Amino acid sequence: MSKQGKFIVIEGLDGSGKGTQISRLADALTKRGVNFQLTAEPTSHATGGLIRDALGGVTKRTSAELAGLFLADRIAHCQNSADGIAAMLGRGVNVICDRYYYSSFAYQGMELGLDWVMSANLNCPAILKPDLCIFLDVPTEVADTRISLGRASREIFEEAKTIERVRRKYFEVFGILSGAHNVKIINAARTPDEVFADVWAAVAEILDGTEK
Ligand code: TYD
Repeated sequence: MSKQGKFIVIEGLDGSGKGTQISRLADALTKRGVNFQLTAEPTSHATGGLIRDALGGVTKRTSAELAGLFLADRIAHCQNSADGIAAMLGRGVNVICDRYYYSSFAYQGMELGLDWVMSANLNCPAILKPDLCIFLDVPTEVADTRISLGRASREIFEEAKTIERVRRKYFEVFGILSGAHNVKIINAARTPDEVFADVWAAVAEILDGTEK
């Protein structure tokens, strides 16, 4: 009998080391023979392309338009019949998602207020609730330095002042969701090995009872 997969989201500021930790997680899961699929938002589907154009400054969008695009992208991401999150979980595949609605709450909520963005996402029956959200937390200065080292240009949310506001918004959101959502905040201003030890512990706890 096949079991339902677990839905795990990895969140963090730009420059939090999310990419490194996700690739370590993928290696560790592969080594242990865990059935999993990596995915990300914005997606590589059509709406995701519109979002990337807006993030890169190619197309100008209002904050509300962008919030709507992320919402549409997420609905398709969850429900797409071939490779959607719901379909994967139903097949017993564990899904690891790079950013999800917590990013909308922090980034779009910062500009539009939390009420609309949170209720649109949390009350949408087509949008799935994760089993675990891992937030890789770094102070703004660390995020800023890492972005500088890694990029030639910055996207619209990557300016230092914005990063600080986004970080504060994430914490406000986690306060509101406390008790209702399984959020693990991990100090990511340490060595990749130290951070990964905590990431693995959180993931292993969730996968316990499946096929670790
Ligand atoms: P991306 O280039 O994927 O970078 P990262 O590696 O930091 O995830 O950029 C995604 C950007 O989109 C990032 O600045 C956060 C933003 N975003 C939102 O504003 N709202 C959302 O709902 C999501 C999923 C992402």
